[in-house]
Amino acid sequence: MEEVRVETAGGRYPVYVGDGLYEGKFVEEIRRLRPRTVALVSHPTIFAVHGERMLAALGEALGAAGSVARFLFSQGEEHKNLRTVEAGYVALLEAGINREDVLISFGGGVVGDTAGFIAATYMRGIGCIQVPTTLMAMVDSSIGGKVGVDLPGAKNAVGAFHQPLAVFSDTGVLQTLPAREMRSGMAEVAKYGFLYDEALLAEVETWSGRREPGAAGLEDIIAACAVHKARVVGEDERDVGGVRAMLNYGHTFGHALESAAGFGTLLHGEAVAVGMMMAARLSESMGLAQGGLYDVHRRLLAPLLAAMPLRVEVDAEELLVYMRSDKKRGKGERFVLLEGPQAPRLVEDVPRELVNEAVEDIVEDIRSGEPWP
Ligand SMILES: NC(=O)c1ccc[n+]([C@@H]2O[C@H](COP(=O)([O-])OP(=O)(O)OC[C@H]3O[C@@H](n4cnc5c(N)ncnc54)[C@H](O)[C@@H]3O)[C@@H](O)[C@H]2O)c1
Ligand SMILES: [Zn+2]
Repeated sequence: MEEVRVETAGGRYPVYVGDGLYEGKFVEEIRRLRPRTVALVSHPTIFAVHGERMLAALGEALGAAGSVARFLFSQGEEHKNLRTVEAGYVALLEAGINREDVLISFGGGVVGDTAGFIAATYMRGIGCIQVPTTLMAMVDSSIGGKVGVDLPGAKNAVGAFHQPLAVFSDTGVLQTLPAREMRSGMAEVAKYGFLYDEALLAEVETWSGRREPGAAGLEDIIAACAVHKARVVGEDERDVGGVRAMLNYGHTFGHALESAAGFGTLLHGEAVAVGMMMAARLSESMGLAQGGLYDVHRRLLAPLLAAMPLRVEVDAEELLVYMRSDKKRGKGERFVLLEGPQAPRLVEDVPRELVNEAVEDIVEDIRSGEPWP
């Protein structure tokens, strides 16, 4: 087991990474917190596979006097919305959950963001424990306290900062995660690699190169990502100092791709992988990075896109329209670019022609098909 500490003004907490945590550290921590009732938020699908293990751990921790109230909602980004949040409030109210109790988010980023937002706002905020079950959520969304839901056509438009009390990334649950979801999470791992950590890039390559990449050996990778995320969040919790903004590498393009393809078509990590390729191309054409940066991205990221559907249908014009309508954008075009691997830079006022060119180049490259997986 590895332990990473997060230290922010909004909260100081441990992130535990390891196999079999639910039976160990998790029980210990719940006992220490002594809630009377635990609100367990998850998807029925995750609960069906891993719920029994979770309930056994909670039973052990709470003893006969404690109880668990479940709130399960349907999976998919389309359920990360205010209707789900309201149903969650009602379920908590009916279970008599108050501010001494604790909410446990048990799932991927959709559960984590939604459950975290419920915890941030129910009775003006109750304690939240994040128990991520996807690689994406373990390396990124469960750490750092950004919680929230979507409005129609506007991703993450409503939200809060609500740091969890603790994060438990039990690698055992990843054994049931579909391969495509694993690859999507691995794209986010590659992001930390390109931004900060050469060794992580090698890990991603090794992982992709295995014939049947699974959950084995993931503990170190997840812990390394947690260290990076913890450091960044510690320096810039509220995303105002330009430090946390670096984590948006590949995301300006990526979010546009997700929207253009229609939510649910591309997985978040797939869109970010293509987005990082576009950012690498743009870094080259801006004269920031040496040639070769794009090729490194392509070699490393293409295997993660093996199951990406419609990869030849991405339309450059449409993508640019979505990028222009991105509400989060300030006055000019602002991108995280690389001067080279592990040398990120926030660049304002990127010439529009170069952005267009990068988009068209990558779309063309993807269209050409070979040697894409
Ligand atoms: N708050 C943040 O800082 C932050 C950062 C990155 C992403 N996000 C958000 O995270 C979301 C994406 O999260 P995600 O990639 O985890 O997707 P997800 O939560 O939709 O999970 C992916 C799928 O895997 C299933 N699943 C989860 N765990 C499983 C397991 N152990 N075994 C089998 N199936 C399992 C889920 O039911 C779901 O169908 C997006 O909404 C994104 O906006 C938030
Ligand atoms: Zn992301």
